[in-house]
Amino acid sequence: MSPLFNSSIAIIFLICGIAATFIMLELRGAPKDRSINATLIKLHKIFGWIFMGIFLLLLIVMIIKVSGYKEEISSRISFHIVLSLALIPLLGIKIIIARRYPRLSQYLIAFGPIALAFAVALTGLTAGYYFMHSSDIKYVSLTGSDSKILDENLGRQVVNQRCNKCHTLERVYRAVKSEEGWTSTINRMASLDAPNISSFDIKQSIHFLANRQKMLKGKDESQLNKAFGKTIMETKCTSCHSLERIVQAKKGKEKWESTVKRMIKYSGNPEYLTKKAKGELIEYLINK
Ligand code: HEC
Ligand code: HEC
Repeated sequence: MSPLFNSSIAIIFLICGIAATFIMLELRGAPKDRSINATLIKLHKIFGWIFMGIFLLLLIVMIIKVSGYKEEISSRISFHIVLSLALIPLLGIKIIIARRYPRLSQYLIAFGPIALAFAVALTGLTAGYYFMHSSDIKYVSLTGSDSKILDENLGRQVVNQRCNKCHTLERVYRAVKSEEGWTSTINRMASLDAPNISSFDIKQSIHFLANRQKMLKGKDESQLNKAFGKTIMETKCTSCHSLERIVQAKKGKEKWESTVKRMIKYSGNPEYLTKKAKGELIEYLINK
């Protein structure tokens, strides 16, 4: 699920929590005539169940996400986890009292505001943070005027801090890509991790990673292009069969062009490789 979808659902979650709590305050604090009360109780239950449903859904999403983290999690995320877990017994006990222990029902009124306080804190930490930073989320590439802000040391720091959350840094440092290739990969990573990797971070990482490779390979342009092609092969061509199959095949330019065209067709995605990436890949395949 995308961060925008999650955050929007979290806002609906909060609205249902507020509605359910205030309806209950109204019912207990200023009872109306019977028919209005009956409608209010019904509304309270509807909002309450939507609140519970969304809570369970977001809880499952959170557990799946956290189980994929490779590194120490940030304090914002750990606090989010603590609040979500604490809500489980709070909501569970509230439902059990309402259903099984009528003599304790006078205490129920306290559960609403407490659960709401948790929900506000939870939503603020996630959806609030997302909406506050969502203007940062757009496709970012380097332009001429960026040279003033670009700094390789800063770029290295950003990469080392931001890029080892979901996979090891080895994955990053082993890949060799052109500036265009890094721009597309890092933007994809930033959207996977939105809104934690800002536009500024994206620019610094593209600059650092693209430059680092130029230095690694010295001035030998053809070596570098070969490395670009190899990375494209390693990242794009291994989903359906082993690399061995490709490494063993010896073909000329035309044959490779038609093979790669066929593979793109198999992938079912006409944009599987950009024109530039396709050129670099084929160049590599011919001379590998
Ligand atoms: C939110 C988790 C997450 C973060 C943070 C993240 N990545 Fe990734 N990365 C992934 C996933 C998932 C894949 C595999 C799927 C894919 O390639 O889209 C991947 C794959 C990659 C690959 C191999 C695929 C390719 O296209 O070359 C590279 C290189 C990479 N990431 C670099 C980075 C860099 C650089 C950063 C930091 C700017 C970063 N990642 C941050 C989740 C993440
Ligand atoms: C969506 C799945 C898929 C992807 C992605 C894929 N292939 Fe294939 N590949 C196949 C299938 C299926 C075959 C066997 C049928 C055939 O040869 O047409 C195959 C066979 C091959 C062969 C052996 C046949 C021949 O013509 O020499 C080579 C080489 C090859 N693929 C290269 C690549 C390269 C390079 C890429 C990356 C651009 C790639 N594949 C990506 C599905 C895929």
